[in-house]
Amino acid sequence: MRKKMVAGNWKMNLSLEEAMTLSGELIEKLDHHRRDGSPGKENKLPDVVLFPPFIYLTRIREFFPDTKGVAVGAQNCHHEESGAYTGEVSAPMLSSAGATHVLIGHSERRAQFGEDDQLLARKASRALKNGLTTLFCCGEKLPERESEQHFDVVEKQLQSGVFWMKEEQLSHAVIAYKPVWAIGTGKTASPAQAQEMHLFIRRLVEKTYGKAAAGNIRILYGGSCNANNAGELFAQADVDGGLIGGASLKPRDFFQIILAAAS
Ligand code: PGA
Repeated sequence: MRKKMVAGNWKMNLSLEEAMTLSGELIEKLDHHRRDGSPGKENKLPDVVLFPPFIYLTRIREFFPDTKGVAVGAQNCHHEESGAYTGEVSAPMLSSAGATHVLIGHSERRAQFGEDDQLLARKASRALKNGLTTLFCCGEKLPERESEQHFDVVEKQLQSGVFWMKEEQLSHAVIAYKPVWAIGTGKTASPAQAQEMHLFIRRLVEKTYGKAAAGNIRILYGGSCNANNAGELFAQADVDGGLIGGASLKPRDFFQIILAAAS
């Protein structure tokens, strides 16, 4: 049985003070839930991962000691181990700062920073070598969906970004399906559209790695997922949680989404 995951991608938002306040409110809600929940209920909460801007990583990590059940990750990393790359952040730096996860291939990185499939594969490889769980993002743009190329686009992104991994590496990867037309637009994929694509992705994993790996890999949905639609999306057989942007900045909404993934 796959454990669900809810991840919050803060993108380039929040001052440090706002980030600390948000984290404090989230801890309070989680603690309250655990205190008032029936015994064993804590185990049923999904894995929760926060992706703050690099500069807040250590502070936010300190806020969530291991017992709080919230991991911290970075929104990006460089593809080299170290060196003369002014302004960049490497995977070993992230690990040493307490990050356990990293996002690779977000559509905003692809579109605004020209990150292509080849570079993303190198980033994913570097992240995995440094022990970071890698959330690899894929998803089609609106014209690609309208011209019914969405399956081909996602397959190509995964072929180059993920399917080079050895099975052991794949066990430290999570796939996030994030249709670009749904990101920050308020336009969510319908539960049926999400399920259709997630099942397609799981079958691709099965073709490459076999049934067990396909059964184990988590596939998250992202794109205007919010407190109102999360329940229905997460109820789909192949949707293992969500990668949340805008709604992760509102503690009440984000907590509702976490609860929607609790079993
Ligand atoms: P959104 O963003 O939830 O605001 O649509 C999702 C993401 O880009 O991670």
